[in-house]
Amino acid sequence: MSASADIGVTGLAVMGSNLARNFARHGFTVALHNRTTAKTDALVEEHGDEGNFIAARTAEEFVAALERPRRLVIMVKAGEATDAVIQEFAPLLESGDVIIDGGNAHFADTRRREKELRERGIHFVGVGISGGEEGALNGPSIMPGGSAESYESLGPLLERIAAKAKDGTPCTTHIGPDGAGHFVKMVHNGIEYADMQLIAEAYHLLREVAGYSPAQIAEIFTTWNTGRLDSYLIEITAQVLAHTDAATGKPFVDVVADQAEQKGTGRWTVQIALDLGVPVSGIAEAVFARSLSGHGGLRAASRDLPGPSVATLGEAEAAAFADRVEQALYASKIVSYTQGFHQIQAGSETYDWDIDLGAVASIWRGGCIIRAAFLDRIRSAYDSRPDLPSLLSDKQFSDEIGAAQDDWRSVVATAVEHGVPTPGFSAALAYYDALRAERLPAALTQGQRDYFGAHTYRRTDREGSFHTLWGGDR
Ligand code: ATR
Repeated sequence: MSASADIGVTGLAVMGSNLARNFARHGFTVALHNRTTAKTDALVEEHGDEGNFIAARTAEEFVAALERPRRLVIMVKAGEATDAVIQEFAPLLESGDVIIDGGNAHFADTRRREKELRERGIHFVGVGISGGEEGALNGPSIMPGGSAESYESLGPLLERIAAKAKDGTPCTTHIGPDGAGHFVKMVHNGIEYADMQLIAEAYHLLREVAGYSPAQIAEIFTTWNTGRLDSYLIEITAQVLAHTDAATGKPFVDVVADQAEQKGTGRWTVQIALDLGVPVSGIAEAVFARSLSGHGGLRAASRDLPGPSVATLGEAEAAAFADRVEQALYASKIVSYTQGFHQIQAGSETYDWDIDLGAVASIWRGGCIIRAAFLDRIRSAYDSRPDLPSLLSDKQFSDEIGAAQDDWRSVVATAVEHGVPTPGFSAALAYYDALRAERLPAALTQGQRDYFGAHTYRRTDREGSFHTLWGGDR
């Protein structure tokens, strides 16, 4: 077999197949490989006319088909399968070749693998790919880590197959060394969890407090989607809410079990945020909200707990309330992104990645699940001030959140009065108020720590570390 493939893809389940087809459709010759060769054959049979494919039956054939430096994309199940496939291929590769892991790997695994392969002269690039099956085929947002040198060889291919933002910019960029790409993809997913939770809370309030039907709420979301909340998630929310269940004729949302599942990237985001000491309370609340929804037994046992008795709003009040919910949703969304970008900034500092936050916002503008008009604003905030301490320090965002805050507070207060849980809205508002506060009660916490554990405290008026002899006997 002559070495004529620009790139190879091993692991041809849906994501791998679609990515391979995307490369082929853009004129690249793609070598194909899968542990079970039937999948390779099926892909060639069903989509062979979309471009140039070279079907390889063995690892040796696959590697031999690749032009040097070889670019080999692994699209297998994250975890042990990825390690197994790396072990299988690495001995067949040469110095300067590039292994690309397009799976949903934990960034710590990517760091480990990158280090091991670097010692053998092989580039290892962990790539976050967002956009699901459809994105993999038609243009995902692509977040590659790994060495800058590997991006020179790989970047031009990724730029061709990535989604394009409205201004034509490819939704990919070299994020930073080793695990930076998978880290950023992880935080992307955490933000996605938070966005989805906030949207769910807005729906819940419009339903329970304002008394709107799912179809009416679908219309409200459709209207919101024409404004500053313009985004993929708001768009699909309207479609989900407008959908009628064929079997029962009921609104689809009313026949779906109200237990949200998760694959784990949101949980990773929060676990890592705890390690880094970054307050991502909005993302954490979103993860916990899914977890709480899944505790069917606990919820059933708690159903008789008393709640407030408050009437649903009248028609006239409902419309004004919906406008306030839009404000609360927007303000909370600003906080979610503020927290997510803080986590990326902290990861970048901890691991020395030198991540360009404006570029991250830029490549999330298309292809990925959180794509939104809003990200263009985040991009310009960081582009005009790369050292921005927080998104909330950007004048435009702080003005907007300031303008929204009265309605935001009113919505959270109404939610509390009506007994509708809004952990996302409430946590976002608490974060906003905590950042604003001249003094936090953390001073008291430090006093308590000094009392029971002699942990000492710092003072506002003097340098140094102090301890008080509490009650004379401590
Ligand atoms: P699916 O998405 O079809 O449920 P999966 O179990 O998530 O499949 O695996 C996705 C891909 O990883 C498949 O291409 C699978 O290869 P097979 O088609 O042979 O099952 C591949 N894969 C999983 N574990 C692997 C391993 N240990 N070595 C090589 N490939 C593996």
